[in-house]
Amino acid sequence: MSTNVARVLVCLEEVGAEYDVVNIDFPSMEHKSPAHLARNPFGQIPAFQDGDVVLFESRAISKYVLRKYKSSKTDFMRDGNLNEAAMVDVWTEVEAHQYNPAISPIVYQCLIFPALRGIPTDQKVVDESLEKLKKVLDVYEARLSKTKYLAGDFISFADLTHFPYTYYFMMTPHASVFDSYPHVKTWWESLVARPTAKKLSTYMLEVAQPSVSEEVTNLGEFVGRSSRIRPGRMEPTLATSHLLTPYKMGEFSLAHRVVLAPLTRCRAHGSLVRPHMAVYYGQRASPGCFLVSEACAVSEAARGARDVPGLWTDEQVQSWKPVVDAVHAKGAVFFCQLWHAGRASCAELQPNGQAPVSSTDKQVRPQITHAGNVVEFATPRRLEAEEIPNIVNEFRIAARNAMKAGFDGVEIHAANGYLIDQFMKDSVNDRMDAYGGSLENRCRFATKVIEAIADEVGPGPVGVRLSPFADYMECSDSDPEALALHVIRTTLNPLGVLYCHAVEPRMRVNPDDGKLTLPHMLLPFRRAFQGTFLVNGGYDPEEGDAAVANGGYDPEEGDAAVAKGYADLVAYGRLFLANPDLPERFRRNAALNKYDRSTFYTSDPVLGYTDYPFIDQL
Ligand SMILES: Cc1cc2nc3c(=O)[nH]c(=O)nc-3n(C[C@H](O)[C@H](O)[C@H](O)COP(=O)(O)O)c2cc1C
Repeated sequence: MSTNVARVLVCLEEVGAEYDVVNIDFPSMEHKSPAHLARNPFGQIPAFQDGDVVLFESRAISKYVLRKYKSSKTDFMRDGNLNEAAMVDVWTEVEAHQYNPAISPIVYQCLIFPALRGIPTDQKVVDESLEKLKKVLDVYEARLSKTKYLAGDFISFADLTHFPYTYYFMMTPHASVFDSYPHVKTWWESLVARPTAKKLSTYMLEVAQPSVSEEVTNLGEFVGRSSRIRPGRMEPTLATSHLLTPYKMGEFSLAHRVVLAPLTRCRAHGSLVRPHMAVYYGQRASPGCFLVSEACAVSEAARGARDVPGLWTDEQVQSWKPVVDAVHAKGAVFFCQLWHAGRASCAELQPNGQAPVSSTDKQVRPQITHAGNVVEFATPRRLEAEEIPNIVNEFRIAARNAMKAGFDGVEIHAANGYLIDQFMKDSVNDRMDAYGGSLENRCRFATKVIEAIADEVGPGPVGVRLSPFADYMECSDSDPEALALHVIRTTLNPLGVLYCHAVEPRMRVNPDDGKLTLPHMLLPFRRAFQGTFLVNGGYDPEEGDAAVANGGYDPEEGDAAVAKGYADLVAYGRLFLANPDLPERFRRNAALNKYDRSTFYTSDPVLGYTDYPFIDQL
C-alpha cells in the first residue's frame, strides 16, 4: 500500500468513518485515465470522494476527514484553540518538509525498490539520508522530552501523519536508529500500539513482500463512504496467509516461510548416518522448503548425546550423502547444524572417557528429564586459550565436510547452552583471559568460529542459531539483549551471514487469561540483523506437552510473526517432527498429528520417527 493511502486510512480509522477502498490498476496506467485525472489532475494516488466533494493530496484528504468526523474524543485538528491548531500545523509541516524527505529515501532504498522493483539498495543514498534523519530526530527528541506528542500533550494529526513512513522504516535494518532517541521511541511505541495501527498493518505489510508485488501495485483510491474495506483482504485465510508466501533467502528461493527446526533424534549409529534418516528427512522435504538438520557433532568430543551424527570423518560425509540427496530430490533446501556440546556431555561419550571441554570447569548439575530419568554431566575441563584455535578448526573442517556431503549450507549452533553459548554467557564463562570477562571477550570464540566458517564456505550459506534468553544447561546471561545485539552487530552483519535463527524465551503465563504465551522478545535482534531472520519457539524440556497445546509457534502465531514483519521465516520443531507434511497441512488448514514425546530420542528406525502419517493417509 502506498504511504499516501495509508495516511488517509489511518485518519479514517481513527475517527471510525465508514468508507470503501477502490483499487487502481497501476500496470495498465489506470491512474492516468481520464476518469481518474478528473479526480486527481496530477494522476496520483489517492483520490477521495464524499458525495459532491472530490479531493486529492493525502494530507488535505486526511484533514477533511478529521474535521468532518471531529468529536470530543476525536479532535485531531484542535481547530477550537488557535495556539494548539497552530502547533498541529507546525508539526504537520515538519513532517512534510523535514521528516519525510529524510526517512522516505531509506524506505524506498531498503524496502520498496528491492522488494517491488528488484532494484538493489543504494547504500550511499541510505547513509546520507540516515545522517539527515538523525539531525531531524535530534529536534524531535528535544520536543518530545517536553510534550507527550508533537503538537502538545494531546495526540493530533501531526502525530498520525508520521505513521506510514515510520512504520515502514521500522521494517528496515536501520530501525535501531530510534533506540538512541528514548522520547521519540516512546512516542512511536504509543502510536504503533493504537488499535488503528494494528489494524492497518496487514495492508501495510504487503509492500514488504515481493510475493504479492502485483497486488501492491493496485494502490488504493478512495471513492465515497459506504461499506467497510473488503473483508477477505483484512483477514486473510490460512490459504492466503503470510506464512505460506514465497521468500528469497539469499540465493535460495523458498516456497514458504515454514522451516524444519533442528531436532536431535538419536537415530544415527556410531556417529554415522543411517538409511532411515534419509526416509525421515525425505518425508519432511518438499519443493522450496527449508530444512535444518539435527545437531551434527564437529568432533568425537563434541557429542552431547549417544547416536548423534558427526561430520569429522570421510565415512561420515559419505553416510550423509543419501540423506542430502533424498532431500534435494524433493526440491528442498538443506542446511546442516554444526554442534559442539562442550560441558553438556558425559565421560562415556568422550574419547577415552576424558573430561568434556568447556569455557569453565564448573559442572552442570544433574537434570531430570520429562520421563523422570536423571541425566548426569561430567566435570568439564577448562580449555586453555592455546587449544581454542583447534576447536575453531574442527568447526571449519565440519563445515567443509557438510558442503562435501552436498548440504546447501551450515547453521552454527551457538544456542541452548552448548559450547559456543558456554563461552558467550556470563553465568558459565568465568575466564580471565582473552576469552572471558568483557562482552567482546566472551563472544570472541563465537566470532572466531563464525569467521572461520564464513571463510571456508563463504557467508552466503551460513546461518547462526542464538538463544540469548535461554538458560538451558544452566547457561544464562545477565544481559541477553546486549549479548545478542553485540554478536549481530559486530559479527553477523559485518560478515554478511545469511540468516540469524533466534530462539524465543520460554513461554510465560499471561496474567490476563492464565494461558502460556510467547514473550516475543526478539524484535531488537530482528531490527538489528541485516539478513534473513528466522524465529523459533522456546523449548523447555520440563514443560510437558503444554507448549504447543497452549500456543507457541502454531500456524496462527507463525503467520502473525511474518505478517507483522517480526520474522521472515518460522521454524517448527515438534509440529514438524509429528507432521511430515506440515506446510501442506497449514495450507489446507488441516488437523495436526500429535507428537509422542516418549519416542523423541529412542533408537527405533520407524516408531515415532518415520511412521507419523501424512494427511492423505488418514
Ligand atoms: C526432540 C528435540 C530435539 C531437539 N534437538 C535440537 C537440536 O539438535 N538443535 C537445536 O538447536 N535445537 C534442538 N531442539 C530445539 C528445537 O529446535 C526447538 O527450538 C524447540 O523444539 C522449540 O520449537 P517448537 O516449539 O517448534 O518445537 C530440539 C527439540 C526437540 C523437541
